[in-house]
Amino acid sequence: MSIDLLAETAQAMVAPGKGIIAIDESNATIKKRFDGVGIECTEENRRAYREMLLGTPNLSEHISGAILYDETLRQATREGIPFARLMADAGILPGIKVDKGPVALAGFPGEVVTEGLDGLRERLREYALLGARFAKWRAVINIGDDIPSGTCIEANSHALARYAALCQEAGIVPMVEPEVLMDGDHDIDICYEVTEVVLRSLFSALYDHNVMLEGTILKASMVVSGKDCPDQAGVDEVAEMTLRCLRSTVPASLPGIVFLSGGQNDHDATAHLNAMNQYGPLPWPLSFSYGRAMQSAALKLWSKDLVGNVAVAQQTVYGRARDNGLAALGQWTAG
Ligand code: 13P
Repeated sequence: MSIDLLAETAQAMVAPGKGIIAIDESNATIKKRFDGVGIECTEENRRAYREMLLGTPNLSEHISGAILYDETLRQATREGIPFARLMADAGILPGIKVDKGPVALAGFPGEVVTEGLDGLRERLREYALLGARFAKWRAVINIGDDIPSGTCIEANSHALARYAALCQEAGIVPMVEPEVLMDGDHDIDICYEVTEVVLRSLFSALYDHNVMLEGTILKASMVVSGKDCPDQAGVDEVAEMTLRCLRSTVPASLPGIVFLSGGQNDHDATAHLNAMNQYGPLPWPLSFSYGRAMQSAALKLWSKDLVGNVAVAQQTVYGRARDNGLAALGQWTAG
């Protein structure tokens, strides 16, 4: 696969003022979200919900791509238009979550490693035929007493690198996501230290596995205080520490970095991204690949009247895309 094509796709994913909407919740995860708003988690409800999101008018003004779950990539609109075609026609790159989720790491209580490498070459070939242009793999790193261990970090980096190399072989841009969870009462300095080690390990593994950085996107977690830490870092501190961590670990040849929202509320996710982009110029575009911080408001509205509220739910999706798109340029103002 030519690096030019991969690089072109990667650059399009982080085009100025654009980011990614992550709607790749597994059936188990979307069930939790649906349960929260009293919606039954049927295949048809999942399809209708994703159609509402992807059908948002003018979404491509601020959204370059969407990450789908396996089931969604095979689904279509009510009128029978496959979602991948709907997106391609709208100028939105179809992406696919290809990992099979985290499982307990044997011998390391409290730590997990992401599975999904077996058969991945064949799955990627099929996903490419179905229209996927990029793929996501999420590793999960927990912070706690004596964790993360070096073994856990290495095992996850190794899996990320093997997945990324397979993606590039299939002509698909890997979006490598090592998520350092916000759960815990640790302070922001601990989050910084862990994130730094994790990113160092990841880029070393990518190098060892001959992954072309020019055709790779990093999906990063921000450096933040643990959710239960009594001393919560403010917007400027989060922006400054996240940037410092990224500058010291992420090669400049990477076409771009997008952030996950990880449980931050809508306002914080946007404000943090905006603040970082105001610190420019930066070595790479910094944008978003938010799940909850793109969808939460829309899900609440949609759940109240699945058909009647489609347009109003879509307005909030568009509004979140616009706000985050402005934040990707450092041009967002609150309210
Ligand atoms: P959140 O933005 O809700 O963390 O989801 C992004 C994502 O894709 C996590 O893998």
